[in-house]
Amino acid sequence: MATQKAEAPKGKLGVLVVGLGAVSTTFMAGVLAARKGLAKPVGSMTQYDKIRIGRGEDKKYLHYKDIVPIADLNDIVFGAWDVYPENAFESAVNAEVLKAKDILPLQAELEAIKPMKAAFDKNYAKRLDGNNVKDCKDRWDMAEQLREDIRNFKKETGVDRVVVLWAASTEVYVPVNDEVHGTLEALEAAMKADDKENIAPSMCYAYAALQEGCPFIMGAPNTTVDIPAMWELAEKTKMPIAGKDFKTGQTLVKSGFAPIIGTRCLGLNGWFSTNILGNRDGLVLDEPANFRTKEVSKLSTLESILVPEEQPDLYGHGNDEDTQYYHKVRINYYPPRNDNKEGWDNIDIFGWMGYPMQIKINFLCRDSILAAPLCLDLVLLSDLAMRAGRYGTQRFLSFFLKSPMHDYTKGEVPVNHLFQQYVMLKNAIREMGGYEADEEID
Ligand SMILES: NC(=O)c1ccc[n+]([C@@H]2O[C@H](COP(=O)([O-])OP(=O)(O)OC[C@H]3O[C@@H](n4cnc5c(N)ncnc54)[C@H](O)[C@@H]3O)[C@@H](O)[C@H]2O)c1
Repeated sequence: MATQKAEAPKGKLGVLVVGLGAVSTTFMAGVLAARKGLAKPVGSMTQYDKIRIGRGEDKKYLHYKDIVPIADLNDIVFGAWDVYPENAFESAVNAEVLKAKDILPLQAELEAIKPMKAAFDKNYAKRLDGNNVKDCKDRWDMAEQLREDIRNFKKETGVDRVVVLWAASTEVYVPVNDEVHGTLEALEAAMKADDKENIAPSMCYAYAALQEGCPFIMGAPNTTVDIPAMWELAEKTKMPIAGKDFKTGQTLVKSGFAPIIGTRCLGLNGWFSTNILGNRDGLVLDEPANFRTKEVSKLSTLESILVPEEQPDLYGHGNDEDTQYYHKVRINYYPPRNDNKEGWDNIDIFGWMGYPMQIKINFLCRDSILAAPLCLDLVLLSDLAMRAGRYGTQRFLSFFLKSPMHDYTKGEVPVNHLFQQYVMLKNAIREMGGYEADEEID
């Protein structure tokens, strides 16, 4: 795909969020608060990071907005869908992520964000029982109704462009089925045949977004846009897609820490990660079929950074079959902690002559506080990519994602190494700003 300089944005940017829960209301509240000068958008690369442009004596470090035409926070207009009817203010209060002092000054604006009826199927999230749900004849009708929602949102708000972001619950695991997900034609036929098993509601959202000319971002680990049929649709509609699964706490640490072991040529026998989490996300993930989706996503991180086939002496031992280190990820629903997740990592490494050592990491994080800036960056950068004529899987956004999309049909390996992902991000920004990509050390 030819790289071109991004065009300057005209008018407002609509951000339609699927799911109006903890992450999305924290994201929305933070943007509204930053606009009023009441809070700082800490953690957001698009608002804080600086990238080097030029080399040698000509080099300078600039904020993204001074390199590429990123939409302004003042130009964002929010909308949402949810299974529950509560508006963004009520939902933010229920989520208990933010304090009253941070939500109350935004009350009127948050109350105005009322969720549209969700495209939902209880079989995909058994623990949810809200009634703000569309009545759909079949999956095709589900997508048609969502398309109409997007068109109405555009008309009512007058926004120039829309990005659709999935920040809704994790659905049950939908394995890729080539017969249904392999081509756009097969996918559409399955939607029309109401194939509920292979077509998740999230696929209807993605289908609707792309058909309406909106980039689509998958923030949960759902396989939604990670299938050839959706790549085909994204190519056809010339829309960017990104996914999957916000890289927030434990996996961020893993993708940043594993390179220390790999770069220093230390060995790994095992990595055990466990979490306790008590928000609604944790409740949904307590269901084994939903956890499976998350597990697949979380497990993929390490294997492409510490590769047993490339370094069999270092990474080829440790588990039952003795072919690679033991890697286990657990999430435990524990209500008293609500959104304040605690993660423990136990890393069994070995050094010179095989002598064992251990590393322990204990991360007391706040899930939605970490996810909110990723929502902002993914939305702004997808909108930018669209204006730069980029479409299909946006690999430069891997930096923000736990399980980056890649073309597995061609044996492509995803890049999970945080610092390699950062190089990809910086180079994409440089190119979209009309500068040369490079790999010089900063
Ligand atoms: N916070 C993090 O650190 C983090 C990291 C990675 C991924 N995620 C993912 O982000 C998502 C949101 O997390 P959260 O903590 O805000 O969860 P949440 O439970 O607070 O909010 C999710 C909302 O989505 C709604 N929903 C479910 N299915 C829907 C559908 N089909 N259509 C419309 N709405 C629907 C639910 O009713 C709920 O209000 C989860 O999938 C989670 O796994 C979060």
